[in-house]
Amino acid sequence: MSKPKILVARAVFPEVIARLEKHFKVDANQDDENWSKAQLTERMRDKEGAFTTGGERIDAQLLAACPKLKICANMAVGYNNFDLDAMTAAGVLATNAPDVLTETTADFGFALLMATARRITESEHYLRAGKWNKWRYDMFAGAEVHGSTLGILGMGRIGQGIAKRGALGFGMKVIYHNRSRLDAGIEAECKARYVSKEELLKSADHVVLVLPYSPASHHTIGAAELALMKPSATLVNIARGGIVDDAALAAALRNKTISAAGLDVFEGEPKVHPDLLTVPNVVLTPHIASATLPTRLAMANLAADNLIAFFSGKKPLTPLNASVLALE
Ligand code: GLV
Repeated sequence: MSKPKILVARAVFPEVIARLEKHFKVDANQDDENWSKAQLTERMRDKEGAFTTGGERIDAQLLAACPKLKICANMAVGYNNFDLDAMTAAGVLATNAPDVLTETTADFGFALLMATARRITESEHYLRAGKWNKWRYDMFAGAEVHGSTLGILGMGRIGQGIAKRGALGFGMKVIYHNRSRLDAGIEAECKARYVSKEELLKSADHVVLVLPYSPASHHTIGAAELALMKPSATLVNIARGGIVDDAALAAALRNKTISAAGLDVFEGEPKVHPDLLTVPNVVLTPHIASATLPTRLAMANLAADNLIAFFSGKKPLTPLNASVLALE
């Protein structure tokens, strides 16, 4: 029997490509070319499976041009690049890569919070620019982290990881808001108290965003929400671009409506709103929250496991629209 044809849409670990090649005829973008939508569609047209990395939009238009496609496996926990309804309607299974990145991403969320609150990159730029010629009592004085109030918007697995770091490691008071309130047992484990979004914004010293992106969460944080926050507060976004109105945030940072922000994700990334590049009180990183080599390898292997299981007639590990499998 001939091997199913799959597309690997972006460069990934060579050992994962080698694994996939044992099971599939692989067309891999190991040169990591930036394909347009038309190029992606063209490369996917004759494929039965796809390994995607989170940036490739899989929608009704692409699906109509790729009638052989049966599964798209995302090497990301977020899957806002998938039009899940269109995929389900076309009978295409979607899988993501949860769990394996939880602790690593929570580590990064906390690192970004610390760097933002304690002005680490801003002070490093000052030092590198040769401007440090004397010590001063209030030089780069930042916000307190230990014992402060941590507000988490979006309390999934990663949010819970950040809550535990804050509560158990730094003695922070943790409050959270989520679409639904967590079980009392999980709240107790995270030492987290459920509050309204408004109360969270008004009372947190540090607000961390970890909610998934959907049209409903677009601009969850805009000018009105920023105005509710304390002038001394910091905002950290490790969720998705589009959850924050970046233009409104840049204005709020410039006007000191809030004190500082740490951003790993951006509206329209890899482009960054030009105003964010000119305000000093923001720490900017290029969507690297899950980026340690062991975690990225585990994410890639999970996407590969999903493809291999599916084409071997087994249940994929992390399906998003399992109803498609029932139709098989
Ligand atoms: C990264 O942003 C992911 O969704 O895994």
